[in-house]
Amino acid sequence: MAKQYDFGLIGLGVMGRNLILNIADSGFSALGLTSSEEKVKLLKEEGKGVDIDGTIGKEDFIARLSQPRKIMMMVPAGDPVDSMIEQLLPLLEEGDVLIDGGNSYFEDTDRREKYLHEKGVYYFGAGVSGGAKGARFGPSIMPGGDRKAYELIKPIFEAAAAKVDGSPCVDYMGDRSAGNYVKMIHNGIEYGLMQLISEIYDIMHRGMGISNRVLSDTFDDWNKGKLQSFLIEITAEIFKVKDGESNAELVDMILDRAKQKGTGKWTSQNAMDLGIPIPSIDTAVSMREISAMKSQRIEAEKIYPKTESNGASELSISDLENALYFAFIVTYSQGMSQLAAASIEYDYNLDMEKISKIWRGGCIIRAALLEDMRQAYDNNPELTSLLLDGSFSNKIKACEQSARKVVLYAIEKGIPSMSLSASLNYFDSFVSGRLPLNLIQAQRDHFGSHTYERIDKEGIFHTEW
Ligand code: 6PG
Repeated sequence: MAKQYDFGLIGLGVMGRNLILNIADSGFSALGLTSSEEKVKLLKEEGKGVDIDGTIGKEDFIARLSQPRKIMMMVPAGDPVDSMIEQLLPLLEEGDVLIDGGNSYFEDTDRREKYLHEKGVYYFGAGVSGGAKGARFGPSIMPGGDRKAYELIKPIFEAAAAKVDGSPCVDYMGDRSAGNYVKMIHNGIEYGLMQLISEIYDIMHRGMGISNRVLSDTFDDWNKGKLQSFLIEITAEIFKVKDGESNAELVDMILDRAKQKGTGKWTSQNAMDLGIPIPSIDTAVSMREISAMKSQRIEAEKIYPKTESNGASELSISDLENALYFAFIVTYSQGMSQLAAASIEYDYNLDMEKISKIWRGGCIIRAALLEDMRQAYDNNPELTSLLLDGSFSNKIKACEQSARKVVLYAIEKGIPSMSLSASLNYFDSFVSGRLPLNLIQAQRDHFGSHTYERIDKEGIFHTEW
């Protein structure tokens, strides 16, 4: 019998190749499947010294995996996943485990899990975060599927995942699509944080005239303090890089049109379905859309040239740091509230402490404040909003005035600050015991007899206005 491998991985693109090399480095024999001879060669070259091989034959691949087989697909989300499932199904046997490591839409995972369950195959949707480097040296992994079958893949995932204080950044998230759902929210938060950083960059660079060099140093400093996070760290690096083709810095040569693959949009769409407000993330999605309207923006800029503002007050670097920290917390808080609501709606039984814990390392949104978040959920697993936690409310209070100053500055200068403003406005709304939506109720009743409730007695009321 041919040598039997512990783990099979389908799709040897950058992410797939890096992940299989990581798994082999972690002490598990691993076999890759791809359609390209070239990629098999590359894998063997890169995997010299570890127990790894590749093949282009599906039958060969299946025959060389130890049973029950543990197979992970790293193929683009959407049709390629369904097509791969159909090709594998006739070859799989009862008890085998098939894992989708891509950013699949959670409802697709539910459908696939149900379909494969009927055939006796365990199906997992496992979000993998950390980009190419993360996949190679330790990602954060968010698997969802059958609880018992998770034990089969757990040792491999734990060995390959990033570690924080010796604890692996992977854990069982819940049944069915729980893993893909958690990864979707991770990405929604990622969109929010990235947009907030870019707004602070705009305020500092365009508004205050701070050079890329100084921006880099400032972000480096911030990365040593409360804002310490992967995204702040890489942003400091980005500001340092010179353009290879001109005398400029590379960041200034990049077209301001941000692409997206859909996970941020799905987060917003689903938040609307659940009735959970996440405006910091919604505005981040909107900003990517506005960024795509490049020609319209250029035309509009000619019609509405910026007027010189004289009102903007001076901002200190620590105001900017505090404002960003404030908005980061609000953004994480919105994402976590959505997770809590989804846990009930979809019966995921999510453990918020566990999620915060596995996001402390490996993933794109890893940050020092994830440990604070883990503690908040450890203290109160039922916490409905991070903003209600004692330690977070202290952090927020300490930064609130800076957030106001920075948003005011941006508004006075005409610098777009959709996510910063949305974060502050979410906060102001959330902490308002009374909002003006009594008037909306009155209007609804006025034009459509939609009725209203009263503050002084129970019941449903209507007035002939
Ligand atoms: C990660 C990332 C990753 C995602 C990219 C690009 O956790 O490693 O979230 O999964 O694909 O961030 O996403 P967009 O193309 O939508 O920006």
